[in-house]
Amino acid sequence: MAQTEGYATWAEIDLGAIRANVRVLARGEAVVMAVVKANGYGHGAVAVARVALEAGARWLGVARWDEALELRRAGLPAPILILGDVPQAILPEAVAAEVSLTVSSAEGVRAAQRAGRQAGRDARLHLKIDTGMHRLGVRPEEAVSLAERVETEPGARLEGVFSHLACADEADPGPSLKQQAAFDDVLQALSARGLRPAYVHLANSAATLRWPGMHYDLVRPGLAVYGLQPSSSLPLGRDLTPALAWKARLSQVKRVAAGQGIGYGHTYRTRDEELIGTVTVGYGDGFRRWPMNQVLLGGRRCPVVGRVSMDQITIRLDPGQAAEPGDEVVLIGRQGEERLSAEALGLTWGTINYEVTCGIGPRVPRLHLE
Ligand SMILES: Cc1ncc(COP(=O)(O)O)c(C=O)c1O
Repeated sequence: MAQTEGYATWAEIDLGAIRANVRVLARGEAVVMAVVKANGYGHGAVAVARVALEAGARWLGVARWDEALELRRAGLPAPILILGDVPQAILPEAVAAEVSLTVSSAEGVRAAQRAGRQAGRDARLHLKIDTGMHRLGVRPEEAVSLAERVETEPGARLEGVFSHLACADEADPGPSLKQQAAFDDVLQALSARGLRPAYVHLANSAATLRWPGMHYDLVRPGLAVYGLQPSSSLPLGRDLTPALAWKARLSQVKRVAAGQGIGYGHTYRTRDEELIGTVTVGYGDGFRRWPMNQVLLGGRRCPVVGRVSMDQITIRLDPGQAAEPGDEVVLIGRQGEERLSAEALGLTWGTINYEVTCGIGPRVPRLHLE
């Protein structure tokens, strides 16, 4: 059990679940890159990365240099790929830290080669191909000339070639298969010039789980590492378990007479005499100021009534419900027979589980439990 007495709100991260999830993902032939960007999707990047590597992941994926630096400073020597764009100013530092870089333009390749020469060691580059998402990535027809530029000029080497799928979590596989065909065309063109980098990669969690034919040399799961579901059309198997629970505490319980307004703006009025609880979490922690929220108390679902404040919410208990200050309240996770998932909270807030866990604020301590 976590020592939580001193906390108003906290997140418990089950490292055993992360470990088991990564073992499932590492069953295939492909190398696993655990994606730990955005503080490990809110779960705590360093702790997740450590456990993922113990469980069989060999690479770590981040979005930004600062995130790579945090992992290096924590003493993690594993290969790291920065999946996003890297500002030129920090390229020499990134190369010196032996962090692999995504490139998607001729200028990017030139800058990385300069940084490599400056650092006295080759920049390790993964060429990102835009096969249809139209976000970051070089156009397929430019891929060969860029790859040749990396190989023929000093300062860098081509370690990988990759792309990212826009619709892997949607029921229709069509758009993903089309992207894969475009990717395969690029691989063929590269191979015709004798270019075959060590790591060819395409699959996020959804593609890793659905299509072994998209695994190539390496897979890049994020969501599945945390036991989060890629989408409502792609439920997770029973072998992947959610790792995060978000909790807070009841600070007061009292009977409020009928017809009274609750919270800012009195947006909720009691119909009868009601049992109202105050809970120590608010939008300052990332719990959104949104109607229709629910929490668990004593194994029962309780509606949030009145507005969410910065540090507190108010909930309606069943009239006969036994509860007292200090009781644990669950915002995400299990209590008794009930469960509130990050996916369900995402639905309530009109968003997705990614944004829910990434949005749990820095004020919420992450407790990593074995
Ligand atoms: C390039 C890239 N690869 C892999 C991932 C992991 O995706 P998922 O969390 O859906 O597995 C992401 C996440 O956004 C990404 O941007």
